[in-house]
Amino acid sequence: MSKVKTIFQCQACGHTSPKWLGKCPDCDAWNTIVEERQVSGMRQAGRSPFEKPRPLVLSSISGGKEKRVSTGIKEFDRVLGGGVVEGSVVLVGGDPGIGKSTLLMQAVWHLSERTGKALYVSGEESPEQIKLRAERLSIHSDNIILLPETNLEAVIDRTNSIIPCVIVIDSIQTMYTDELSSAPGSVGQVRECAFKLMSFAKRAKIPLFLIGHVTKEGAIAGPRVLEHIVDTVLYFEGDRGHSFRIVRSVKNRFGSTNEIGVFEMTDAGLLPIENPSELFLSERPEGVSGSTVVASIEGTRPLLVEIQALVSPTTFGMPRRTCMGVDFNRVNLLVAVMEKIAGLHLGGMDIFVNVVGGIKTVEPAVDLGIVGAIASSLREVPIEPKTLVFGEVGLSGEIRGVNQVEGRMKEAVKIGFTRALIPASNASRLKEHFPIEVIGVRNVDEFLEGILA
Ligand code: TYD
Ligand code: MG
Repeated sequence: MSKVKTIFQCQACGHTSPKWLGKCPDCDAWNTIVEERQVSGMRQAGRSPFEKPRPLVLSSISGGKEKRVSTGIKEFDRVLGGGVVEGSVVLVGGDPGIGKSTLLMQAVWHLSERTGKALYVSGEESPEQIKLRAERLSIHSDNIILLPETNLEAVIDRTNSIIPCVIVIDSIQTMYTDELSSAPGSVGQVRECAFKLMSFAKRAKIPLFLIGHVTKEGAIAGPRVLEHIVDTVLYFEGDRGHSFRIVRSVKNRFGSTNEIGVFEMTDAGLLPIENPSELFLSERPEGVSGSTVVASIEGTRPLLVEIQALVSPTTFGMPRRTCMGVDFNRVNLLVAVMEKIAGLHLGGMDIFVNVVGGIKTVEPAVDLGIVGAIASSLREVPIEPKTLVFGEVGLSGEIRGVNQVEGRMKEAVKIGFTRALIPASNASRLKEHFPIEVIGVRNVDEFLEGILA
């Protein structure tokens, strides 16, 4: 028997210390350090002393092309990088009630139709509750096996007798291993369970989906510790107030990151949306100021989104700046550039910026959209509705080129835009001809002149 030692670990960041502390020296969080049982190094690494890895010559390794199976849901395949890879571990995170269990139930159903049995381990809901959901989704399958279990050893034991083709753990926070005495959901338990499940899935070459809850701060609970372990991290975006749900790949060892899948939550489950740009622009008001459309690239897909801004004189001494869907600091920087370089008076103004549809976009190419929307609202001049913009704004007011211009332009043409204000460097190097009036702009002044004309 290995000697059992206890250590003190921060539940927020995983920092360990030999004694208890009130404040974590690593992440500065208070009251997050909890006692955990430490197992010996060998067992913690999840490796038996008999398997000793040998060094290999790179060219001697066979394979290389991973085997993929389609989940039957196009948008889900897209975020996974073209289907589920055998033996891959996918973490699906999101707020409660956003649709994690629904999406995985649908995916597992399609997968089980193609490949064999699917094991759905639920530590949160009873089989009756899952059955109710399946009925709502019109899923009647003999290939989906439900296992209401929270003990990890028992799950692995059952899995060995069922031999499924895909496993879903709903959720990883409810699982516990006998080896640790801490409560389910603690960092130690979450990490240890995920690690064990992953080693098991890799050995058996079974794709594994882990559902993870999100803490209030937005990190996947068990403080992002899982993000390092798993192959793919998918994250639900969008709020429950809207019917669309966006699944974004934050990390993907088998595909591009930041890829998004767009779904709509209906009474019959999540429906993939083929043409999200159309949807996001469908309710756009015409002839009002403070709205622009930008072409951003999410992963490999161009997406047209509407950016709205509202600028109004502040009633307090300190002007308010509120941003939803775009980076707060980025907006402050752009406001500073507009004040100093373009001479707009924004100092005494409250500024609100929002990306329509609950989408988050971090791409620098949306800069011009933010600048355009703020200027349009300040001057109360509506922007011509068939005008598209994109481009990055530098600190001296210059407009910098962005990548994948052809993709963005194609999407704009498809949706029916007739005019595009884009960085001059991009405009001069366009490889194709697009049936759209292209205006290259070099700095913020030129841009504002073009867009507010
Ligand atoms: P669920 O998948 O249980 O969320 P999570 O696992 O992320 O907590 O989905 C919850 C919500 O989705 C619930 O409020 C009901 C709604 N829903 C529908 O609108 N249509 C459906 O077909 C289903 C199954 C759920
Ligand atoms: Mg659920």
